[in-house]
Amino acid sequence: MEKNIEIRYQQFKDRNELSEIEQKLFEEAKKARKNAYAPYSEFYVGCAVLLENEEIFSGNNQENAAFPSGLCAERTTLFWVGANFPDKKIKKIFIVGGPKESAENNPPIPPCGACRQSIIEYETKQNENIELYFANLNDDVIKVSSIKDLLPFYFDATFL
Ligand code: THU
Repeated sequence: MEKNIEIRYQQFKDRNELSEIEQKLFEEAKKARKNAYAPYSEFYVGCAVLLENEEIFSGNNQENAAFPSGLCAERTTLFWVGANFPDKKIKKIFIVGGPKESAENNPPIPPCGACRQSIIEYETKQNENIELYFANLNDDVIKVSSIKDLLPFYFDATFL
């Protein structure tokens, strides 16, 4: 039997299509991106996380001369949030990325597989969806209402 999986997503082409809080997250992610430590790939990624108490925290990718020791912007940010606010629910995650120079022609940057898996862990932990946005520097934004849309047949604690 053949089956289909459909995913729903929203596409924004202008920052004015975003709500005030979404625009704020975009700004914070862009600000964080500027501080990325990415001397090897020169690919700069920023991430901003909105908590249930309206606080926003941000981070960026941190690379290493021993390449696999580096970490993506999403996990740098989420692990810090998880370490410091273990009981606060995460409402939204906003990611923006692109090459250090001339990032303008890049498409929106989706989270890598390992980051998708990490985000699923937090969704499962808090038992509530996290809205996820990913963007380029040209204000092209894609939104999904759950990371599960980007990782069908995900593995989580319910299998253990
Ligand atoms: N990167 C992220 O920070 N997030 C992603 O979702 C994709 C990739 C980083 C990792 C590495 O520092 C650089 O971008 C190039 O892969």
